[in-house]
Amino acid sequence: MLEITNVHASYSKTPILRGIDVSVETGEIVGIMGKNGVGKTTLVKTVMGLLEADEGRIVFDGEDVTDEPADVRARHGMGYIPQGRDVFPELTVEENLRMGETINDGTDDLQYDAVYDYFPILEERRDQEAGTMSGGQQQLLAIGRALIGNPELLVLDEPSEGVQPSIVQDITRDLRRVNEELGTTILFVEQNLHVVQRLGERCYAIDKGAIVDELGPERLESRDAVTEYLAV
Ligand SMILES: Nc1ncnc2c1ncn2[C@@H]1O[C@H](COP(=O)(O)OP(=O)(O)OP(=O)(O)O)[C@@H](O)[C@H]1O
Ligand SMILES: [Mg+2]
Repeated sequence: MLEITNVHASYSKTPILRGIDVSVETGEIVGIMGKNGVGKTTLVKTVMGLLEADEGRIVFDGEDVTDEPADVRARHGMGYIPQGRDVFPELTVEENLRMGETINDGTDDLQYDAVYDYFPILEERRDQEAGTMSGGQQQLLAIGRALIGNPELLVLDEPSEGVQPSIVQDITRDLRRVNEELGTTILFVEQNLHVVQRLGERCYAIDKGAIVDELGPERLESRDAVTEYLAV
């Protein structure tokens, strides 16, 4: 579904990504783990079209999107949950969710029922200002906003950041349910051990802008194998 081949990217003249190869099959949950500042967000932004690749190719659903802008990629079915969530604090929960409709306007198949089913707190709080909710609730809102347009692929940038541990477990479980029931393919970047081990079916390790390892289910179960790539 997603094929990233030899992708290089930089800020001004500073090279950050140095030949990234990552592939994600339809229906998979794939993680990319790495410490602070190794290029995780840069990679996610390049995948979403928010940063231009200097070199390499990004193919989504059989189409070369390397030169497509972010809004076109979104309409192709790529849903994005940015690091730090970026919900609109002054807007209500429901108004934030409606923003998801305009991002993915390629579909008539809006998922309000599903989103409220997975995250009942969003229905309970639909008239509340988003900025008054906890970090974990805002994360659910950002996920819900991305799901409204029924994307084929969800791309999450550190969903556990700023979320208390018990809620991190709930989010991990909810994302697995979304994957199983809606069939949404998931690509996430993380440095949280729990999320890497519990959410990822397969996980790449990134360091200094390059993929340095790939862990299948067995190695993912080993705490030592995973922590080698995390700052824990
Ligand atoms: N807008 C920018 N302009 C210049 N350099 C940047 C910019 N954003 C990030 N960088 C640099 O690029 C490198 C990779 O940053 P990136 O944000 O991709 O890392 P990350 O793995 O997402 O880190 P974190 O875990 O802290 O979110 C870092 O050295 C960072 O300082
Ligand atoms: Mg980051």
